[in-house]
Amino acid sequence: MADDAITLITQDHRRMEELFDRLQSEPDQRPRLLDEIEAMLTAHSRAEEDEVYPATAEASGERAQVQHSTEEHHEAEELLRRLKDCDPNSGEFDERCREFVDAVKHHVDEEESEVLPALRDAVSEKRVQELGRAFSERREQEMRRFGVGPGQIPKQRELYEEAERLDIRDRSKMDKDELAEAVQKARRG
Ligand SMILES: [Fe+2]
Repeated sequence: MADDAITLITQDHRRMEELFDRLQSEPDQRPRLLDEIEAMLTAHSRAEEDEVYPATAEASGERAQVQHSTEEHHEAEELLRRLKDCDPNSGEFDERCREFVDAVKHHVDEEESEVLPALRDAVSEKRVQELGRAFSERREQEMRRFGVGPGQIPKQRELYEEAERLDIRDRSKMDKDELAEAVQKARRG
C-alpha cells in the first residue's frame, strides 16, 4: 500500500535526490533549496529514529545497523550545517556539497538495502502500515517547526513541475505563492 513506512521513506529518498539535482542545476536557488533540504532531512530523520528504527531494531534484532544509521543521520546534519555556512558560489561550496550529498546517498543505499528489508522481513504488513502512519505524523510535526505546513513541500514541487510544463519564465526564482499565481494565470491564458 502507498502509505506504509517503507514506501513513505523510499519516496522521501527520491524527493531528496531531486533536490540534490536541483542544487547543481539551479545555483541561484541554493539558499532556498538548502532550507528545504534541511527541513526534509531533519523531519525525515527524527521520524525514522523515533518511530521506525526502534521497531526495526526490536523486531529484527539489527540493533547495530540501526545505531549506525542513527549516527549517519547526525553526521549528515553536521555536514549540512557546514555547507550552509559557506558562500553558495564558492569552490568550497562545491566541495562540501559533494561531501554532504555523498554521505546522504551512502546512507540511503544502506537503509534501502539493509534496514528497510530487515523491517519488511521482521514484521507484518499491518505493522508496516501502522509505522507509516506514525512516521508521517511525526514527520509533519517536525516540519511545522521549520514553518512548513502539512504536505506543503510536495505541493511546491507539483507547482514547480506544472510551471515547467507551462513553460513559465523565471519559475526557479519564485516562491510557492508566486508559483501558484503564475500557474493560475497561465492556465487562464
Ligand atoms: Fe535514514
